[in-house]
Amino acid sequence: MFSAPPGAQFPANIAPPGSPLASPAGFGPSVPGTLIPQGQIPGANLLPASPTQLPSLANRAPALAPHAVAGNGVPDSVLSVAPAFEPRSGGVVQGVPQQIGAPVAPQAATSPFYFLSDGYGHPSAGTTPAISPPGQVLPPLPLAGEGWGEGGSVQSYAGVPSPQPLTPTLSPEGRGSQPQFYFVDAVPLAGGGQHPPFDVHAVRRDFPILQERVNGRQLVWFDNAATTHKPQSVIDRIAYFYEHENSNIHRAAHELAARATDAYEGARERVRKFINAPEVEEVIFVRGTTEAINLVAKSWGGQHVGEGDEIIVSNLEHHANIVPWQQLAAAKGAKLRVIPVDDSGQVLLDEYRKLLNDRTKIVAVTQVSNALGTVAPVKEIVELAHRAGAKALVDGAQSVSHMRVDVQDIGADFFVFSGHKVFGPTGIGVVWGKREVLEDMPPWQGGGNMIADVTFEKTVFQPIPNKFEAGTGNIADAVGLGAAIDYVNKVGIENIARYEHDLLVYGMAQLGAIPGVRLIGTAADKASVMSFVLDGYTTEEVGHALNDEGIAVRTGHHCAQPILRRFGVETTVRPSLAFYNTFDEIDRLVSVVRRLAGRRRG
Ligand SMILES: Cc1ncc(COP(=O)(O)O)c(C=O)c1O
Repeated sequence: MFSAPPGAQFPANIAPPGSPLASPAGFGPSVPGTLIPQGQIPGANLLPASPTQLPSLANRAPALAPHAVAGNGVPDSVLSVAPAFEPRSGGVVQGVPQQIGAPVAPQAATSPFYFLSDGYGHPSAGTTPAISPPGQVLPPLPLAGEGWGEGGSVQSYAGVPSPQPLTPTLSPEGRGSQPQFYFVDAVPLAGGGQHPPFDVHAVRRDFPILQERVNGRQLVWFDNAATTHKPQSVIDRIAYFYEHENSNIHRAAHELAARATDAYEGARERVRKFINAPEVEEVIFVRGTTEAINLVAKSWGGQHVGEGDEIIVSNLEHHANIVPWQQLAAAKGAKLRVIPVDDSGQVLLDEYRKLLNDRTKIVAVTQVSNALGTVAPVKEIVELAHRAGAKALVDGAQSVSHMRVDVQDIGADFFVFSGHKVFGPTGIGVVWGKREVLEDMPPWQGGGNMIADVTFEKTVFQPIPNKFEAGTGNIADAVGLGAAIDYVNKVGIENIARYEHDLLVYGMAQLGAIPGVRLIGTAADKASVMSFVLDGYTTEEVGHALNDEGIAVRTGHHCAQPILRRFGVETTVRPSLAFYNTFDEIDRLVSVVRRLAGRRRG
């Protein structure tokens, strides 16, 4: 099972050598100070937003003129003096009693090789990167075409392409004597490019909340599919915004409005680059994935879906990608049709083909299932939708933090995601849409910011993206999302995908080997999620037992009732991984579940 990193069945998802994606210019982490191209930023002057580097307003270009600068962030020179970036005194989180507040390691000295160098986060210490352990001989994990069966056995899967079979860097069997570092740079990475080493312990030091203690134990956060934690650079970037830049955007003639606009539009550009969107105006800020899908259903759907038309979703969908379409279908007299999945939880493409016809108006599918972890073949799904004359929306809520997303490669008309699931703040998310599709859509909300001219007779709307951003948006958290993207870029999304893949293979094997555990979702291509049920226990009981040991998992229906019912369950226990999780944490989870299984009630 998933012997390649998530999404790797589509070679195009992994940048080939020499491609723009593999090259530093297309890939944030290795290019400190990459210039934002001129002439692309709407309503923005991407001048540096720091008090020390801002030219006077008189010297500024007109507010709409973009400038080629490194970014919308905070220059190193400012970071080094800004109080928000100083190590906490006494290593104690401010405002938290000493015995509760966890020590926070001074950061500049500990994570030298992926810190932000463009001034949007921590200063770089410039020290030598940690070195991978000398070549280890490691037994193989399941190869392409194999997967995990009940009880952790390896099964064969037919036809699972694996362009880049992964040699694991760390075997389950070899644990215990392993060093405390988990590097993936020993693995030949897709494209053969040079990537920085991945040091999970250095990464963990960037997430203060991971030092929390719960029920006397160090917190283990396995609820990443619900929300992810925030690195210090994101927390600090938001604080910096409120300390130095806070203003409404786009309108005022004063300095702080210019800074806030810089920061907000700079974040938009970061999103554009992160998902490889062609144009920054195609990136619309919303509250999250739910609002994003509602925007598309209300605006595009309201205009283009009529009586007798059909909307296709998959059985895997989160309620957020079911309910808005259901509401639209009910309002318009249209029909919702569902792509079924096989027993591993992968969508059945042949069945999908049979659903498509000339009444199909839009196909809306998740890229990664939040309940099962299945990575759906979205590129193929989109292509088939387009061949049928339909539009396609891809829900990237669970994909963007685990794999490289290239919206041009996927080819959908819309791609949506939430900031809080990719180490950014809550309350901010993204709709990306193709320019021609967005331009043809009516606004879905009316108010300030989205208008060019208003009389009592009529309103002229702003062009995209402002047309879809009525009212004062979540400015600070958009800026925080920009910082989160910087952070992910610095770690390197391919490094993240590979490390998480090893974790997932290990976790699935360990959990699947426990008698009485039934893994729900065993597709060959998976990311992050290890849903299971345990004989003799309710999922809540398992969740409580884990919480008693400081381990946070989600139990319940995960807002995805249809897919759980497909597997004959109403709820599961759902540990979900992020790149700051460790093999030791999986061992802690497994030992609790094993203990429960050993005491199983008849
Ligand atoms: C696949 C998927 N889609 C949509 C959503 C909704 O995201 P949000 O609650 O951030 O709007 C989620 C959240 O869990 C999800 O996992």
